[in-house]
Amino acid sequence: MPGKPDRRPLRLGVNIDHVATIRNARGGHHPDPVRAAHLAARAGADGITAHLREDRRHISDHDIARLSREIDLPLNLEMAATEEMLAVALRHQPHAACIVPEKREELTTEGGLDVVGGRDHLARYVAALKQAGILVTLFIDPDEGQIRASHALGADQVELHTGAYCEAQGEARARELGRLVAGAAQAHALGLEVHAGHGLAYDTVVDIARIPEIVELNIGHFLVGEAIFCGLEAAIARMRALMDEGRGLATRAHLG
Ligand code: PXP
Repeated sequence: MPGKPDRRPLRLGVNIDHVATIRNARGGHHPDPVRAAHLAARAGADGITAHLREDRRHISDHDIARLSREIDLPLNLEMAATEEMLAVALRHQPHAACIVPEKREELTTEGGLDVVGGRDHLARYVAALKQAGILVTLFIDPDEGQIRASHALGADQVELHTGAYCEAQGEARARELGRLVAGAAQAHALGLEVHAGHGLAYDTVVDIARIPEIVELNIGHFLVGEAIFCGLEAAIARMRALMDEGRGLATRAHLG
């Protein structure tokens, strides 16, 4: 109904990779990303997201094993489309696997997956994960061709890359937001569940939360950074409040 706020729930997946980045800086056990996942659950996260990279720069195999065993929330495993990562996913049976592009030399996941060009390579991974009962997400730019290809490949979900939107300013940011709005509508119309993430912070999350077809946001780096100043639970609670504000479920008065 026009003008009525969309009450579809918007889930928050908390990405704990960078808790492990800090731990690994000294090679010990502190801070423990699994402890952060427990805290995130208490603070209102709906899921835990972790990216096991080929070079193991943050999350380790042992972290994935512990997260699978110890955390009650759904685990979203971000992974490259490789035989090694497929074996990890099949061993631990996460709730969902989000296939991401991965280059060793990049600082973070720099762009979306090329589903159009990589269709033949990706098909085997999508099929094997689905056969194991794992929901398959493809992390893509909000591009019409990539969305169509993701649907054609049989993905359950797409996660739209919000990095370009978060980095842009002024008119360019408005243009990027327009691409995300159109991409979310297209993906939803095709029957794909729509997620979004990468680079989101307090000042960028509200407009993304306003997009009614998006039902999950995955957020990590900003939350872990902000936790230094206010604690992880407070950072997650504030992010949640801003997501609710975007959805029309809260007013500014709740945000403190
Ligand atoms: N979604 C995907 C698919 C990602 O690869 C990442 C980064 O690991 C995120 C979300 C979270 O991005 P950020 O850490 O910038 O919030």
